[in-house]
Amino acid sequence: MKDVIATSTPLKVALLGCGVVGSQVARILITQADELRARIGRPLELVGIAVRDLAKDRPGIDRALLTTDGEELVQRADVDLVIELLGGIEPARSLILAAIGAGASVITANKALLASDGGSIYAAAAEQGVDVYYEAAVAGAIPIIRPLRESLVGDEVLAVKGIVNGTTNFILDKMHTAGESFPDVLAEAQALGYAEADPTADVEGHDAAAKAAILASLAFHSRVRLSDVDREGITGVTLADIEAAREMGCVIKLLADCSLSPDGSIAVGVHPTMVPLSHPLASIPGAYNAVFIESRYAGRLMFMGPGAGGSPTASAVLGDLVTAARNRVRGAIGPGESAYSARGITPSGEARSRYYVSLLVEDEPGVLAKVAACFAAHGVSLQAVRQDAGDGGAGDRARLGVRTHTARDADVRATLAELEQLPEVGPGITVMRVEGR
Ligand code: NDP
Ligand code: HSE
Repeated sequence: MKDVIATSTPLKVALLGCGVVGSQVARILITQADELRARIGRPLELVGIAVRDLAKDRPGIDRALLTTDGEELVQRADVDLVIELLGGIEPARSLILAAIGAGASVITANKALLASDGGSIYAAAAEQGVDVYYEAAVAGAIPIIRPLRESLVGDEVLAVKGIVNGTTNFILDKMHTAGESFPDVLAEAQALGYAEADPTADVEGHDAAAKAAILASLAFHSRVRLSDVDREGITGVTLADIEAAREMGCVIKLLADCSLSPDGSIAVGVHPTMVPLSHPLASIPGAYNAVFIESRYAGRLMFMGPGAGGSPTASAVLGDLVTAARNRVRGAIGPGESAYSARGITPSGEARSRYYVSLLVEDEPGVLAKVAACFAAHGVSLQAVRQDAGDGGAGDRARLGVRTHTARDADVRATLAELEQLPEVGPGITVMRVEGR
């Protein structure tokens, strides 16, 4: 009898935000109520939705649920689960902390907040004995947080590499396949709704950097913050870079790269990177995301799927909601933050990669030897050098494409600084990482 009463009592859900993702979450909560109830063992009841603008048209959403008072909503004593889909740092952080303080478990997709201040949220949740789930914060619909947090927790992750921003993958893919320039494809991405209204977070790599920080924290059981990520966007990538990559049998991807340095510190960066066509990440098309994991015992794993959009992202949010709700029903909580290894962060100059350097030089005897000597002076070993006519056939300039073996970033930077001083080298030296060892 006790069970019958308990299983019919709804778990109360508060939703913060009813935009691209929040509106889909609300609709699924309503339309799939019976299925969700069966999976959880108790019904879910949506008791309120915090928004900015009460007058906005929201098809399928009961206006009576809307409120502009998010604080009052999350502090209701009867709310069991709070879903934060506002985005940004404030008021999201304060509302999440208030929800936790009131005893609710939290589901969020807010990578910007978790990457900059996840520690205080995880600590508050641990103190209150509630859950924080955030599958949708990285790579949209792709299950990647739970695999790292739970499935691979008995393994030793060695590296996580990912295409974790759909907008930039769409742009780079279109530049490669259609030969369109960066500004043209960006306009297309905006028209298709992939890019943000202000696409800076996408194209300058901030969004991918936040996701990299979250992935690195989970993979290496350490707290990695947004400010730890060495970040470079794709605004400088030209069609000439795309062609150089193609000639080398590569495509350019904005790669989030989280790996362990030889001294055990965490190297974490986001950079446009030449990826050989033989690598699984090279074939990820359009706005898709993919995450590639290397672990000691499982070996190589790849996760791929839609990384953005209301419906795919809502799928990940609902997965977290069911998990947190099941925990409530059992009186249990899921895993908290695992940051016991407290590894340091590899300084950006100490990070190691292969590189491709392109430079315009005087086509005269001895120039190649001078260029090679600059690399050698800084301990950068050359893997391959290619020379082409560099200025449309005038004959006195040549384009050198230099591929290095794995080198320290600081050594490559020092080499470039010296190359710039050579009178035989023209302005506009470009450099890009090359994936692989
Ligand atoms: P939107 O901008 O579409 O929606 C934000 C919602 O939050 C709106 O309903 C808005 O209200 C409400 N809101 C914003 N500020 C306030 C405030 N101060 N008080 C009350 N309500 C507020 O964002 P998305 O749905 O795209 O993103 C939500 C979260 O999901 C973000 O953290 C984002 O990074 C993450 N995410 C998004 C993905 C996507 O594809 N869109 C993919 C993966 C993660 P109103 O409607 O009245 O303006
Ligand atoms: N703007 C992001 C992207 C949304 O393009 O991937 C998902 O975080």
